[in-house]
Amino acid sequence: MCLATGNTPLGLYEELVKAYQEGKADFSQVRTFNLDEYVGLTEDHEQSYHYYMEEKLFKHINVPKENRQIPDGMAEDLEQHAADYEQDIYAAGGIDILLLGVGVNGHIAFNEPAKELSDITHVTDLSADTIKANSRFFADITEVPRRAVSIGVGTIMRAKRIVMMATGASKAPVVEKLLNEPVISCEFPVSLLRAHRNVTVIVDKEALGKIPQENIEQ
Ligand code: F6R
Repeated sequence: MCLATGNTPLGLYEELVKAYQEGKADFSQVRTFNLDEYVGLTEDHEQSYHYYMEEKLFKHINVPKENRQIPDGMAEDLEQHAADYEQDIYAAGGIDILLLGVGVNGHIAFNEPAKELSDITHVTDLSADTIKANSRFFADITEVPRRAVSIGVGTIMRAKRIVMMATGASKAPVVEKLLNEPVISCEFPVSLLRAHRNVTVIVDKEALGKIPQENIEQ
């Protein structure tokens, strides 16, 4: 699996923990990668995605430690680390199920709107929009890391199955554009999902905005 962080998957992770505690789920054979990690935050930094995954999911379930990989934002050679991470995903046989949130600007993982997008795992600059959106988790906007290691859009598109989730009214414009505009553009990275054969989009009422229900179910 490839796992996301952020607000959106928190409810899902609670459900997975519950299922594990009730004996309905077993993760002992699961191997996980994560979408991304900030550059410059240590694993024990409260806003690092390492810390998030440990707190919200891993410490409550039984994915073996050696089966979990998250990009290392403290790696000495970040470019080499990103290349190795991509290779590890490939060597693992690729991703079976990939979870995604979406940014208010349409980013997926940290593939920000741009003229061109990276196929593979890479080091990237966060956009001003994303820095602003993520500053809610930090004491001050100046503390938000400016860079991240992120899987690429090709890494995402090679997953066998994608589950994209969006919650809250701030995501309504993005969801509406994704579902209603039959256009694929690097300037709106989530639109690439339109070209994937096996995508499930899960939204709450607020993120659905004004789209009529009957238009969605197809
Ligand atoms: C997180 C990630 C991001 C988030 C997106 C939405 O690992 O890659 O793309 O999924 O920024 O964040 P939330 O869920 O906090 O609104």
